Order: sequence, then C-alpha cells, then structure tokens
Amino acid sequence: MQLNQILTDALKKLETVNSERELSEFKTSMFGKSGTLTALMKSLKDLPPEQKPQVGKEINDIRVAIQDKCNEAEVRLHKAAISAALENDKIDLSIDKPVTEVGALHPLNRIRNKLIDYFVGNGYVVYDSPEIETDYYNFQALNIPLDHPARDMQDTFFINDNILLRTQTSGGQIRLMEKFKPPIKMICPGRVYRNDDDSSHSPVFHQMECLVVDKNVTLCDLKGTLEGFAKFIFGEQTVIRFRPSYFPFTEPSVEVDASCFNCGGKGCRVCKNTGWIEILGAGMVNRRVLENCGIDPNVYHGFAFGVGLDRITMIQCAINDIKLLWENDVRFLRNFR
Ligand code: PHE
Repeated sequence: MQLNQILTDALKKLETVNSERELSEFKTSMFGKSGTLTALMKSLKDLPPEQKPQVGKEINDIRVAIQDKCNEAEVRLHKAAISAALENDKIDLSIDKPVTEVGALHPLNRIRNKLIDYFVGNGYVVYDSPEIETDYYNFQALNIPLDHPARDMQDTFFINDNILLRTQTSGGQIRLMEKFKPPIKMICPGRVYRNDDDSSHSPVFHQMECLVVDKNVTLCDLKGTLEGFAKFIFGEQTVIRFRPSYFPFTEPSVEVDASCFNCGGKGCRVCKNTGWIEILGAGMVNRRVLENCGIDPNVYHGFAFGVGLDRITMIQCAINDIKLLWENDVRFLRNFR
C-alpha cells in the first residue's frame, strides 16, 4: 500500500475516533505487534540496502505524524470526558424547593433583651439570683417576717418549710447587697413562681428587679429613672404617675402607671378606658432591708422596682391571654418575627 494512503486513512480515522477505548484500539492497529506500521518497519529488511535509508525515513515520518495526531486526539478525548463528567454531576441550584423558615426570638426574650440593653447602657450590672430560694431571701430579709400578712399577696410554692420557688426577684436585692456595697446599680431579670392560674396569671412568669443604692438617692431619682424607662418602652410621649401602695421592703411604696400608648390617655380598650396602664411596683428601699444587708441607712438610700416582663410583653403584643406566651404555637409566634 502507498505510504501516503496509509497516512491519509489514519488521519481521517483519528478525526472520527470519539472514545478513549476507540483510540486505544486504533493505536494497537497501528503500533501493536501486528499493527500496520509495525509490519511496514519489519518489511524494511526485505528491501535492497540502497533503498532502506530513504524508505525507512518515510515510514518514520508517517509514524511520527500519526503519533502526534494520536496525542492530540488523546487530549481532545480527555477534555471531553471531563466535560461530560462535570455535566453529569451538575447540581441545579435554581431548582424550586420550599423556603426554609427563619426563626426569631420569642417576644418575651425580645423584651427582656431590650430592657437589659437599656439598663446596661445606663450603667447597671445584670445580677442572676437563684429561682429556688430560702424563706430568708424571699421574705424575711425583705422585711416580711413569718407571720406577716403581706405573705398572703404571694401564694407561694413551698418545697419544704424553709425552701421555696421564689415569688419575686426582690431576693436578688438581698443577695447582691450582702456581697457588694454601694454605689449599687443592678437589674435582676428571671423567672418567678406563684400559685396563680388564669388568663392574666401563670404559675411561672418573669420579673426584672431594679435596685439603686447610693448616697443622696431620692424619690425624684426613682421617678426620673422610671420616666426614662417608660418612654423607652412605650414611646417619647409617655408620662407616668405614682399611686401610693404598700410593699414591706420599700417605704414609701408606689404603684406606677404609664399613660396609654394606644390612645394617649383618652381611654381605649388597651387601658380599659382609664387612660393609664399599670406597669410596676416600686419604692424607696426600706431602711430595715439595708440594715439586714449591713448597709447603714443613715448614710445610704436606695430605690427599687420590680416589673413584670410578661405583662409588658402582653401589652406590647396586644394579647390578653398570658398562656399564648407559653404554648409556643408557631402560628402565634410567627406574628412577631
Ligand atoms: N417584688 C414586688 C412584686 O413582686 C415588686 C417590687 C419590687 C416592689 C421592688 C417594690 C420594689 O410585686
């Protein structure tokens, strides 16, 4: 066969080769033991010696040319194989799938964090006090002796005669003042427990205690602090008022109302037509409480207040059943994302 014809056929064949296996078969058919080129090389020995160099060179040129084309085909097929593999492995990121729900803080935690931010920003420390408390810290040190009628105001879960679930965060005042001396500015948020259960009371609820003790602290400081607090929670237009009240651990004691954020004081459903919303209990720290903690009441004065976080949350979320805060029904919680 003409050498040129062999070359032309081979190159044509190489162009149509389209798998690595076909290429390998082609190479065997050329360069293998009984391949076309191998046979040509072998036939050299039958030629007259003077033709050998010339024909040998021509065969070799063809071999090199075919080999080059084989290498090119190999690269082309390898690339195609990679592209095919990538194509098969492709993930379609545009594919439709249900949107993953984004979670959010529970409205109660949101209020708590907001208040903590506010008070910490005003220089208060956050103090953690135990939920399982002794009678001493929950009552006696707060000027509520064993036979005091004020105990009736807080229906207590006793664990035994001396140990109980705290009914108020006020015990945190005592624990803090035993350890730290004035100047004191602290808040103590946490769970409290009372044997109460209806649409506005839950056996477990949340309070945040606030305590300030220093020289020259007056009722005006309490009022200014509470005014700032009420404006922060309910808006700049909010005003507050004090009503006389009674707590054994404060003297004088007050109940604090904020003007209704909903109607501005005219009277509406939110404020039960009174124009005011009751927000917390407060007062000047009773001197007996300071004495119980080894702080001289002739030198230091303080104010304290305790705010119900569930109540504030309920007012802000405009709900009238405290259980909604506990059921963790996502249909309810979704409204406050
Ligand atoms: N501990 C009181 C309560 O639970 C609230 C309060 C705290 C009142 C601090 C005065 C001072 O009702």
